[in-house]
Amino acid sequence: MKIMRIYTDYARVYHEMYQSIFNYENEFQLYDKSLSKLKCKKILEIGCGSGNLAKYFIKKGYDYTGLDISKEMIELSKELVPEGKFIRADMRNLELNEKFDAVIVTGRTFTHLTTNHDVMFALRSIHKILRKDSWLLFDNFNAHEIFTNFKDHMTHKSKYSNRKYTRKSYTSFDFEHGWTWKWKAIYEIKEEGEKRSFEDEIILRAFTEDELKLFLHISGFEVSKMQKESNAIFTIAQKKSEERTNAQLHYFKKKENNFSEISQV
Ligand SMILES: C[S@@+](CC[C@H](N)C(=O)[O-])C[C@H]1O[C@@H](n2cnc3c(N)ncnc32)[C@H](O)[C@@H]1O
Repeated sequence: MKIMRIYTDYARVYHEMYQSIFNYENEFQLYDKSLSKLKCKKILEIGCGSGNLAKYFIKKGYDYTGLDISKEMIELSKELVPEGKFIRADMRNLELNEKFDAVIVTGRTFTHLTTNHDVMFALRSIHKILRKDSWLLFDNFNAHEIFTNFKDHMTHKSKYSNRKYTRKSYTSFDFEHGWTWKWKAIYEIKEEGEKRSFEDEIILRAFTEDELKLFLHISGFEVSKMQKESNAIFTIAQKKSEERTNAQLHYFKKKENNFSEISQV
């Protein structure tokens, strides 16, 4: 799995730019509303990035842990939210010694699971670290929206402190493994008369509701809610049993010890 430069070498640029891309307070409210109703206290956020949601969860009294694949994002989270617990790991291969009331996968992080193998491994990992009857909440891009209203270029401008950011995005259909597209972004940073730029490229994946339901079902979850929000789907699913499903028994029989075969980190 390729990790984008914006999550590694340029993690701080991500942090500053994305303050105007995501509304973190609204995102927190969305998760908090459901987590409170479900009485979840001990939570794991996968794809915690630079810890933007961590500070809200901690302030509200959750027993919170943030997890991200990027070393730079974890370092930044620890710097910006020193009271938080943060772990570096790949969501497709989690080996944690604790169990959670809920796992949340936030900010479209699911979009990086571009192959069916990635999805199967990630859901198995998440299933393992949840208690029985506990919850998985996540958002992802809605394939119907993305591909019906496909935009091949976009420009985003933002300002943070004395820095001006411009991101030009160019997208094209990929369709190699599912509802995937190629995203190339050119970032420009202007600061005190100086200009620098860098490029980033990645494949991203959207899902249909049916695809999500099937992946979740064969991974031992039952969907309790699916809610469409602009170009995304917000899903709540419950872990149904400790046992492996029939599909998992077949799927993981050969792949059991072969995570490295699918991992390109
Ligand atoms: C779009 S960002 C969202 C970050 C944060 N939730 C936010 O809203 O700002 C996606 C995050 O997922 C992380 N990520 C991507 N693939 C991952 C994987 N396989 N396991 C864990 N984290 C991953 C990236 O490093 C990045 O920080």
